[in-house]
Amino acid sequence: MKALVDGLGRRALFSLDPETAHGLSIAALKSGLPLARRPLVDPRLATTVAGLTFANPLGMAAGFDKNAEVPDALLRLGFGFAEVGTVTPLPQPGNARPRIFRLIEDEAVINRLGFNNQGHAAAAARLAARARKPGIVGVNIGANKEAEDRIGDYAAGVARFAGLASYLTVNISSPNTPGLRNLQGRGELKTLLQRVGEARASSPAPGIPIFLKIAPDLGEADLDDIALEVTAQGIDGVIVSNTTLSRQGLRSAKRTEAGGLSGKPLFRRSTAVLARMRERLGPKPALIGAGGVDGTEAALEKIRAGADLVQLYTGMIYAGPSLPGAIVAGLARHAEKEGLRSLAELRDSHVAKWLAAPID
Ligand code: FNR
Repeated sequence: MKALVDGLGRRALFSLDPETAHGLSIAALKSGLPLARRPLVDPRLATTVAGLTFANPLGMAAGFDKNAEVPDALLRLGFGFAEVGTVTPLPQPGNARPRIFRLIEDEAVINRLGFNNQGHAAAAARLAARARKPGIVGVNIGANKEAEDRIGDYAAGVARFAGLASYLTVNISSPNTPGLRNLQGRGELKTLLQRVGEARASSPAPGIPIFLKIAPDLGEADLDDIALEVTAQGIDGVIVSNTTLSRQGLRSAKRTEAGGLSGKPLFRRSTAVLARMRERLGPKPALIGAGGVDGTEAALEKIRAGADLVQLYTGMIYAGPSLPGAIVAGLARHAEKEGLRSLAELRDSHVAKWLAAPID
């Protein structure tokens, strides 16, 4: 029955342009209709990361709920946390449509949305309205395309959302805002993270965890620089990764569209970069693995490659709203079968294997 509903839902949604389908998914979640079975709670999946206790390690990645409209509905699907955004200080329309493309043969998506969002004020009002509800909701912050002081936009995001979020993500890895990824370079990154740290210290929540979200298209020396600055500036963790500019190994005709690629073909490279970050940062900082997670085995492999937490987005476009519940149930079955007290026991067991996977 569940497969039938998911199948019908996918057929209907895939007959529409991807952005229209996305709008319908948000509307369905807003309506409160039960789109998936009641999520499973298993103490072996609970994990404390950066001082926050997650019911399970699977989260919805940024970009699905850009305007903080449905974080609680996402948690009801079974996710252990939901990351909203990217939000920029001012509302902005993003790039011209069409700007999301399904690469069906590759189980992938290319998007060049360009931070379309309703701005800080709209997201902050929605988050304030749910402030007393339980559940971990992170806010992913960015900079307006036309900002004169991009770093100032991040500091403004920290000031605005520190009191409204469980954690904040500094997103400098979208390929769709020209020049944004340059903030990953050592000099700019240092200034950015210093300003972000100052904004946190003077915010109403000076203890809120801050994560940095990076691109998968980085070389070994870039990763060295990022790890050094993350450590030096007291950043709590890194999300690895955003979408890629690579088009390696794709079959779909849509592969020539400009933008960031997500989904199955991103799994390998994002996981290889994740392991490199774990190697550089050591055991303590939080790592969140994203990129091509489409089932339980992929989620487990992110943890083995060094992740404390895992996120997905594109997998749900292909598998539907029952995917998070199915992955969480699969994680619990794995813990049972292997006699684990906590899934965290698996962390880092495949770091060496993933270090051997090339990233060039
Ligand atoms: C994204 N992603 C994203 N990331 C981010 O930090 N801010 C954003 O606004 C967006 N927007 C966005 C839109 C669309 C349509 C997609 C498909 C993706 C990236 C996303 O959070 C994630 O890092 C990557 O998509 C890799 O994970 P998946 O999709 O392979 O599971």
